[in-house]
Amino acid sequence: MTPPPWKAEIDALVVELLAAAAAAPDAAALRAIEVDALGKKGSVTALSKGIAALPAEARRDYGAAVTAARASVEAALAARGEGMRADRLAAELADRSFDETLPGAPAPSGAVHPLALVQAQLEDVFRSMGFSVLDYPEVDSEYSNFEALNIPSWHPARDMQDTFWLEPFADADGAPGRAHLLRTHTSAGQVRTMHRFPNQPIRAVFPGRVFRYEAVDASHEHTFHQVEGLMIDRAPPEGPGVSVGHLLFAMRTLLEAVFGEAVEVRLRPGYFPFVEPGFELDIRCRVCRGAGCQVCKYSGWLELLPCGLIHPNVLRMGGFDPARWQGWAFGLGLSRLVMMRHQIRDIRLLLGGDARFVAPVAAGSAG
Ligand code: PHE
Repeated sequence: MTPPPWKAEIDALVVELLAAAAAAPDAAALRAIEVDALGKKGSVTALSKGIAALPAEARRDYGAAVTAARASVEAALAARGEGMRADRLAAELADRSFDETLPGAPAPSGAVHPLALVQAQLEDVFRSMGFSVLDYPEVDSEYSNFEALNIPSWHPARDMQDTFWLEPFADADGAPGRAHLLRTHTSAGQVRTMHRFPNQPIRAVFPGRVFRYEAVDASHEHTFHQVEGLMIDRAPPEGPGVSVGHLLFAMRTLLEAVFGEAVEVRLRPGYFPFVEPGFELDIRCRVCRGAGCQVCKYSGWLELLPCGLIHPNVLRMGGFDPARWQGWAFGLGLSRLVMMRHQIRDIRLLLGGDARFVAPVAAGSAG
């Protein structure tokens, strides 16, 4: 059987193109061959159009031959490209002025924001103590933020936290027109957590942004970060109970992780409607170590975080019987902690978005 006449024509074209590819002196020449052969108006592309002129029984063989031709031209082009790269590399390596042992150009790298860094560290410490890390919405109800925390609308404690109120809207559960706000503290997650894990011991922390309607200055921001901690367990005789001692232990562990050494702490009474007793926890001044300086206003102590045992009314709102359950809670100001750790004197730097602020702190020097 004699091969059809178009066979020789295709073979000749392929032979010609393979030779041209193998001889291409540089990438530009190679690219020109590729366009001339495989491009829209290329010689190989043109072959496909010839199929229409053939009798039906020849078309299948013709199509296969064109496809094969295209594939071998592509392979030859790729091989020549690869060869060029190898030649270039060999030339570079042979060039005595090229020193492959020199370090490369430094790639610009990102840095972790000091707030994110401390938050991640705290989460790790608490996870290691068996706590879950939870997340709650920044827009919350008046109920979660205030009422459930033993702060009814007439309570003067509402004035302690100036609030961004939102237009009333119905909750997902259809409760009409409830008052909503930007949470003023992460404590808004306390009763949410109790409802989520009813009648069982709870260990949880929930970090997040909180908002207060404040005039902004070096020590006040309308947006800042807190971490709430919550622990609930069975009261004696059914369980171990939860005491101020437990709270202090957890706080010491946390501070040691953050500051890298044991930190001396003291408790002062503090008033918050949702804890009883309530405390302000102070740490030894990081700057003067207790001798007295401007930062601690010559007291030797820095106020760090409020905490206390959960008020029976709050347990009850969360569905826990205060005769059978006890707990503690703390609300750590993350922004404040970062400022202490890095001796940052202006809170506005934290969320100011100036990238120069992130890099030096993350690199370990003072901000
Ligand atoms: N939520 C309080 C605040 O932001 C702090 C706090 C939390 C106090 C937990 C006691 C217990 O001011």
